[in-house]
Amino acid sequence: MDGNGRWAKQRGLPRIEGHRRGVETVRTMTFAARDLGVKMLTLYAFSVENRNRPEDEVGALMGLLEFYLRKELETFVRDRVRLRTIGRTGDLPAGVQRLLRDTVKATEKFDDYTLVLALNYGSRTEVQDAVGAYAAAVAAGSEPPGSPAWDRFQNYLYTADMPDPDLVIRTSGETRLSNFLLLQAAYAEWFFTPVFWPDFSREDLATAIADYHRRERRFGRTSEQVRPAGTP
Ligand code: IPE
Ligand code: MG
Repeated sequence: MDGNGRWAKQRGLPRIEGHRRGVETVRTMTFAARDLGVKMLTLYAFSVENRNRPEDEVGALMGLLEFYLRKELETFVRDRVRLRTIGRTGDLPAGVQRLLRDTVKATEKFDDYTLVLALNYGSRTEVQDAVGAYAAAVAAGSEPPGSPAWDRFQNYLYTADMPDPDLVIRTSGETRLSNFLLLQAAYAEWFFTPVFWPDFSREDLATAIADYHRRERRFGRTSEQVRPAGTP
């Protein structure tokens, strides 16, 4: 979700206006993704590195997040959207943490569609947290010593019981990963678009998904292996 600031700047507006419009896109995309058959949508809303922005912008973003969660709780329950989070949410303001806890709890039974908010998220801190938890499990004797199998180790990531992303979309014309799901997106398909997040539309999402469907995912194998002769 990139480009809020530049969207605002282009219009001579303060950055926070871009973030406000960005929240509207979050609403639209939550349901657009579901309509297009997506089972899980993860939004990179706030990174560990975003904390280093000016204090007033971080404060405004936290305020927006609180406002958004307050408004959305009922919608999520009514429309059966399960909310989950990844990231060091324990460092977020207490009010935001409370709302997150309540919303996650109120929607935990829904299994058709999940919205994951990456908040205070960074892949490197995720690895640090996972290694710490894993080492503690080894010390406690609940994990064997030595190199863990990937399937065991990934249980210590924030995404423990979530599938890896199939498609990652980055808006605003930047072509970097910015510490997002680095391990989980090892075999994801990437889609880069110049559209700023506040302008990202249902049609843009449909275009990205259509593009995804035209790709051949080989996971290191050959084309012949994944598409044996005779299959379309
Ligand atoms: C993304 O928009 C929103 C957050 C990181 C919270 P930016 O704020 O990064 O917008 P640009 O990159 O300055 O345009
Ligand atoms: Mg940005």
